[in-house]
Amino acid sequence: MPGLLVTGATGAIGSAFLSALARDGEWKGARLVLAGRRPDRALALALERGLDRERVEALPLDLSDAAGVEDFRRGPLRRLAPWKGALFLAGTGLDAPLARHSGDSWDGVWRVNAAGPAALLAGLDREGALEAGASVVLVSSISACWGNAGQAAYAASKGALLDLVQARRASMGARGARLNALLPPLVESPLLSGLSPGARAGLFSRRLLPDPDAASSCAAQALFLLSRRSSFVHAQIWHADSRVSSLPW
Ligand SMILES: NC(=O)c1ccc[n+]([C@@H]2O[C@H](COP(=O)([O-])OP(=O)(O)OC[C@H]3O[C@@H](n4cnc5c(N)ncnc54)[C@H](OP(=O)(O)O)[C@@H]3O)[C@@H](O)[C@H]2O)c1
Repeated sequence: MPGLLVTGATGAIGSAFLSALARDGEWKGARLVLAGRRPDRALALALERGLDRERVEALPLDLSDAAGVEDFRRGPLRRLAPWKGALFLAGTGLDAPLARHSGDSWDGVWRVNAAGPAALLAGLDREGALEAGASVVLVSSISACWGNAGQAAYAASKGALLDLVQARRASMGARGARLNALLPPLVESPLLSGLSPGARAGLFSRRLLPDPDAASSCAAQALFLLSRRSSFVHAQIWHADSRVSSLPW
């Protein structure tokens, strides 16, 4: 049974994604593998949202633990191949201005947001790991394009994901698989609650259109990028909201 791997399913966008997935006919026959620090919570959310128990597997994965990521890559990622899709939603915003970062705090953000997803992507971008037509979605942030005061490690780690799309677009394409990065809208979640009122206001003021239900519209965009409905979209930085881009490509 082809699989869909999802990290970050317990988060604000992740749980909206599970609801959207439960309603989507294209993924009815696929195995859903939820990987994260709280597999029990992820499984409970999936069942609450109407996903079929027979199809869902929840596995432990702490992206801040490089050895654990490597075990996951050599274990479940290989064992459960081939994959029809992967959505790397997990992220952390534990952040500070550059001058206040210690090596450890920088590395902690970097491992979860960039190094972990990169290691898993490397595990997918190899012979036999992906079905033809598979789609992989990395979840970045518009902070990667503009930076954001107080979010040095977050912005840099999310920027690395944009470069990964460019770095792996040819090899993924040669496998008949797609790789895109999604830039989410502003969704109320622990990531936003740590921001100062000024930083929040600055972020929200950049929207050209307010989105009344940002979590579910972002989830719908993630599902679109994973599905055959977007089979023409490859190596793109996909804006899921109306904030203006300053990307050079
Ligand atoms: N919210 C926004 O406005 C916004 C804007 C731009 C980009 N994004 C990006 O969108 C993604 C989802 O954001 P969200 O708002 O849904 O965030 P959220 O509610 O804070 O959820 C974060 C998710 O990441 C998982 N996670 C955190 N650390 C992890 C670790 N060490 N190992 C494995 N999983 C870990 C969490 O799982 P557990 O806690 O269960 O382990 C949770 O499922 C993130 O990548 C974020 O950077 C969000």
